[in-house]
Amino acid sequence: MYRSHTCGELRAKHIGTEIVLSGWVQKVRDKGFVVWVDLRDRYGITQLVFDEERTPAVLLTEARKLGREYVIQIRGSVIERTSKNPQLQTGEIEILVNGLKVLNSALLPPFTIEDETDGGTDLRMKYRYLDIRRNPVKENLIFRSKVAMEVRNYLSAHGFIEVETPYLIKSTPEGARDFVVPSRMNPGQFYALPQSPQTFKQLLMVGGLDKYFQIVKCFRDEDLRADRQPEFTQIDCEMAFVEQEDVLNAFEGLTRHLLKAIRNVEVDKFPRMTYDEAMRTYGNDKPDIRFDMRFAELNDIAQHKDFQVFNSAELVAGIAVPGGAAFTRKEIDGIIDWLKRPQIGAKGMVYMRCLEDGSYKSSVDKFYDQEDLKKWAEATGAKAGDLVCILSGAIQETRTQLSALRMEMAERLGLRNPEVFAPLWVVDFPLLEKDEETGTYHAMHHPFTSPKPGQLELLDTDPDAVRANAYDLVLNGNEIGGGSIRIHDKKVQGIMFRHLGFTEEEAKAQFGFLMDAFQYGAPPHGGIAFGLDRLVAILGGQETIRDFIAFPKNNSGRDVMIDAPAPIDEAQLEELSLRLRQE
Ligand code: AMO
Repeated sequence: MYRSHTCGELRAKHIGTEIVLSGWVQKVRDKGFVVWVDLRDRYGITQLVFDEERTPAVLLTEARKLGREYVIQIRGSVIERTSKNPQLQTGEIEILVNGLKVLNSALLPPFTIEDETDGGTDLRMKYRYLDIRRNPVKENLIFRSKVAMEVRNYLSAHGFIEVETPYLIKSTPEGARDFVVPSRMNPGQFYALPQSPQTFKQLLMVGGLDKYFQIVKCFRDEDLRADRQPEFTQIDCEMAFVEQEDVLNAFEGLTRHLLKAIRNVEVDKFPRMTYDEAMRTYGNDKPDIRFDMRFAELNDIAQHKDFQVFNSAELVAGIAVPGGAAFTRKEIDGIIDWLKRPQIGAKGMVYMRCLEDGSYKSSVDKFYDQEDLKKWAEATGAKAGDLVCILSGAIQETRTQLSALRMEMAERLGLRNPEVFAPLWVVDFPLLEKDEETGTYHAMHHPFTSPKPGQLELLDTDPDAVRANAYDLVLNGNEIGGGSIRIHDKKVQGIMFRHLGFTEEEAKAQFGFLMDAFQYGAPPHGGIAFGLDRLVAILGGQETIRDFIAFPKNNSGRDVMIDAPAPIDEAQLEELSLRLRQE
């Protein structure tokens, strides 16, 4: 038996008990006549004591030889500590050791295994198994497991069946590039790893499974960011005989359950907003609604004076920053410089302080009188003490820039509180998105999403106006899930492919299996997929998903621990028909 208890378990009630513990040496403190060792495992830390009075001399010598991260097993009795440590769960006791066995020695770790480590990101990634010994990383993984378990329990209790779908498939377009796998048995041919199990879950509905879910890996070859990994996990779901309302209700239920079970947060019915409204009022299709600062469009009240910058703009829009009048001139100049960086690309910013005496002081007082400025304050909802920030220019650019400013202001004002949870459904997405460079259209969600009822005909005349039965779930400014009601009719799917630029042959070659299935009694169906990594990170009060993944990739898509991707040898290349055999 390696252990009778864990290192997090022993309390005052165990005093006098003989125990066996196994774990890692966190720290050795040698005070000459007494040696203390902190022994750590997943569950906590227990203090071991070896002293000249009570411990045999050989044991004391052995204890002095222990190094950090040695794996040891000890026997001993639980005694009361003279100086108790209330920070530690086991802080009332210590173990007077009477037997020590080194199970494995350890090299000095390249960084300290402490909550606050001295190791940089690269080093910690290379030795991720050591990083996982640290509390913050370990806690994140335990947290993730708990969330996944809650998801499984909830969905199973609501009649969803977990089905595994294959990883070696044909391309499922979700807007990224595929990772491909060469087939040895079919020379010159490749599988694609799924960007999502989209087509399979639809086929499961044709198969009559009615309610499906899967916690599943997805693979997308795209540029990485804090909220993106090339392989990530979805909670993928699909239901038959449902309308949008049914799907939203079902998964609002799941999300509400998770918020309650994991964070003990109760949320009322989730607000809903159309895509158009989100873009107009937040400049963004995943607005963070934990705070206000809604956009006000000021064209009517700010144009047609002598200020040419506004007069020539397609959009003049502003936000009221709460308490922002207190920013110094220097701070505001700093914000303007921040806005002018190429990443944001604004040309400048007009601002107005709302003073405590009810008057206004703007950066364009030359062109606007107090009456004009009062209208700006009313439109943006600014109160005394606030700062109104106004940007202008082309519609989309101005919205994007103002949205970035809104988030920056919220950050500076501490309004992005990770303890507050503000979910939001964004609905009625455009069906298609135009590639401005090529002028071609692609599906905004994916090609299997159905247009709103009665809008199919609009595809020919005004494709930009067609709205989809598609929805995203947004939590604290992050897209944590997206889904749609699907097309279940072969003819409609064919029309959709045509509008996406597929010839009939191409559509048949790539998606013939799905179109065929639609001919054999496909029920109306729809679903959603949550990004589990994102959901877990946000529930955990953070936004970097890497911290919640056991073995993540770095920003170049590399696993620096196992050193992948890596070249493969000539023989393997030949075997996979990736290189011609030398005659
Ligand atoms: P979508 O492409 O919106 O929909 O993906 C669903 C959710 O997955 C998460 N996500 C990611 N998380 C981490 N890294 C990535 N690279 C990444 N890409 C996406 C997001 C996103 O909301 N088949 C459809 C779902 C459906 O229609 O039912 C799909 O995959 O949180």
